[in-house]
Amino acid sequence: MIYETLLTETRGAVALVTLNRPKALNALNSVLMAELTDVLADLARDEAIGAVVLTGSDKAFAAGADIKEMQGIDFIDAYLQDFISGWEGVASFRKPLIAAVSGFALGGGCELAMMCDFIIASETAKFGQPEITLGVIPGMGGSQRLTRAVGKAKAMDMVLTGRMMDAAEAERAGLVSRIVAPEQLVEEAMAAATRIASFPRAAVLMAKEAVNRSFEATLGEGLRFERRLFHSLFATTDQKEGMAAFADKRPPQFSNR
Ligand code: CAA
Repeated sequence: MIYETLLTETRGAVALVTLNRPKALNALNSVLMAELTDVLADLARDEAIGAVVLTGSDKAFAAGADIKEMQGIDFIDAYLQDFISGWEGVASFRKPLIAAVSGFALGGGCELAMMCDFIIASETAKFGQPEITLGVIPGMGGSQRLTRAVGKAKAMDMVLTGRMMDAAEAERAGLVSRIVAPEQLVEEAMAAATRIASFPRAAVLMAKEAVNRSFEATLGEGLRFERRLFHSLFATTDQKEGMAAFADKRPPQFSNR
């Protein structure tokens, strides 16, 4: 499939999706949103795919929502269209989704990375929520997901001043899980995704669901939810195989059943 704003490839059980609007530093326009939503819907249906990596270019993961596209929008259009709510489709993707971020991840770009399950950053990565400098505020989840990721003090600092945070600061703050050299970024993310895709699919999806529930539920509800999912995995063939293989001191042969 040929896309205007994306490149896609598959390596084994992992799909690599690359944002590809180089002249606009991968600014997130409506075509890109529609194409990424379509690609993820296809990957969700594709039983051969166990995990996905989302990346950009060396210079920019994405420099935000497309300012030139949105500058003419007025309130009533934005409200009636529920402007940019379509991006929530990325956050509701059920399979593991890793952001591999090099260069700028600003505004909607930072927010898109935060919709992924975790972020692997290159040493060149720069994160920011500069919407305030344009007279708006984050609109794709920045005020909520950044605050949960890095806490109130740093989130307020980023959202109110619009300053950028480099990769080292982002790792210290808990926004990114690992930092790697730029030339290793995609390989590192693909290796992590390949490892995830090698594990039993139901356990992987439930692990993601359980961690995400911690953002929505009280501790007691989250713990009950986790325990029920944990119990349900004892109904799978892969639990029997994984534990038998451990006891037999041999590698497991998972069947995703
Ligand atoms: N939207 C549209 N076009 C963008 C863009 C954006 N967010 N970011 C960069 N571009 C375009 C530039 O206009 C420029 O195009 P031309 O060559 O046609 O002029 C091209 O990409 C290259 O950009 P620069 O020349 O500016 O590159 P630079 O290296 O000098 O600066 C930068 C890089 C600091 C990232 C700068 O481009 C910048 O500040 N971009 C805007 C960042 C921003 O404000 N993002 C937030 C957007 S609002 C948002 O995202 C709302 C939300 O929460 C959903």
